[in-house]
Amino acid sequence: MMNIMKEFKLKKEMLIGTASAATQIEGGVLDSSWMDWAKRGYITDGTSPARANDHYRLWEEDARLMGELKMQICRLGVEWARIEPVQGNFCEEALAHYRREIEFIQAQGIKVLVTLHHFTNPMWFEQRGAFEKKKNITFFIRFVEKVVLAFDSLVNEYITINEPNVYAVNGYYFGSWPPGKKKLSGTLKVMSNLSKAHLLAYRKIHVLRIQMGLSDTMVSFANHLRVFVPENPDKLSDRFSARLMEYLFQGRLSKLMIYGRLRGWGKLHAKTKGAIPKYFCDFHALNYYTRGTVTNFQDGVKKDSLKNDLGWEIYPSGIVECAKKLYDLLPLPIYVTENGTCDNDDSFRSLYLYEHLKALSESNLPIERYYHWCFCDNFEWVEGESARFGIVHIDYETQKRTIKKSGEFLRAVVLNSGVDTEIYEQFIEGERYRRK
Ligand code: BGC
Repeated sequence: MMNIMKEFKLKKEMLIGTASAATQIEGGVLDSSWMDWAKRGYITDGTSPARANDHYRLWEEDARLMGELKMQICRLGVEWARIEPVQGNFCEEALAHYRREIEFIQAQGIKVLVTLHHFTNPMWFEQRGAFEKKKNITFFIRFVEKVVLAFDSLVNEYITINEPNVYAVNGYYFGSWPPGKKKLSGTLKVMSNLSKAHLLAYRKIHVLRIQMGLSDTMVSFANHLRVFVPENPDKLSDRFSARLMEYLFQGRLSKLMIYGRLRGWGKLHAKTKGAIPKYFCDFHALNYYTRGTVTNFQDGVKKDSLKNDLGWEIYPSGIVECAKKLYDLLPLPIYVTENGTCDNDDSFRSLYLYEHLKALSESNLPIERYYHWCFCDNFEWVEGESARFGIVHIDYETQKRTIKKSGEFLRAVVLNSGVDTEIYEQFIEGERYRRK
């Protein structure tokens, strides 16, 4: 019988924490694209981001809880619609609020990585055509500048844009997210404008921080990467469509955003001078969730595979396959900026965490960070409050936070720098995925 090692040690440089996005946790009625989408009745369980985790009020409690769970890092987003609710009018109080929050998280010994754009736009920007119009990019860059100046030496790590492919495909191809459009040409245009927005934001952040006399700037964008496989590997057309889908959904975009080679823009990095790096990311940010099968240019899920509560395949070795794709483009440190699963009763999340962390630990890639998605169960976009991804349970009525077994497991991993037999037996042995 094969002897499978249960134990693993985290890589020496690996730090562990969680990730979140402002719209998904903060609560409050803002004039934003997702609040509007909810008002228009598109959230399947009828909820809205107005409630979420009430985190804008309960941020101290959440930061303390992160400290209690021994988290070492935290990725958090700022809400553009809160910082610039009206075009050109910046809310200093909101910026001061985020500063207080970041200082408080840091005081718990947790390092903060800030996401500047995570799917949601202020309504005024949405109404101007958002990232469908190239000229709107300047509004985003002005917002980036405002935040970076306000955070000065407090924050040195930024994600400019989260998952441009998911934003573009859901909003402009499937039409299931705001603004609900369904055109391939629009989708490609949005992807290319988001790439430009990233390139400009990347340089802007570096230049501003150099001007402020600050070094150690670390900037990237969050790649959402999936493993794509042909549904029938013996069929040439399935093999071809899997490769094409991968290229259109993620391969092309990663290259554009890392190398800065856009049609009509030449090689942007050739123009960079002095202290500004040559490429457009200082580390790779990987968001990984699942693998998909492809047939006739249609996305699918492998039959008889292990799945989570949203029907996504659970495929742990894919996290290393995707990290490798980024590393092969440019050999930089890799941060897993999101990885997690919808497990509504927390019956297999520890196993999921265990298998993904083990795969990362056993790979020979320079994987330096792991941000689990997510900390508290939160507003899961069109699924609203119905899909739970957190290591902390939320009672949405009372806003009571309760650490789940998976939260205890992650704390044990941090304290032990990995998993030993005792931790394995306590947390993992009894867990099983549900096959659907
Ligand atoms: C997004 C998160 C989302 C998670 C789970 C990621 O693609 O960045 O905002 O909650 O997936 O669906």
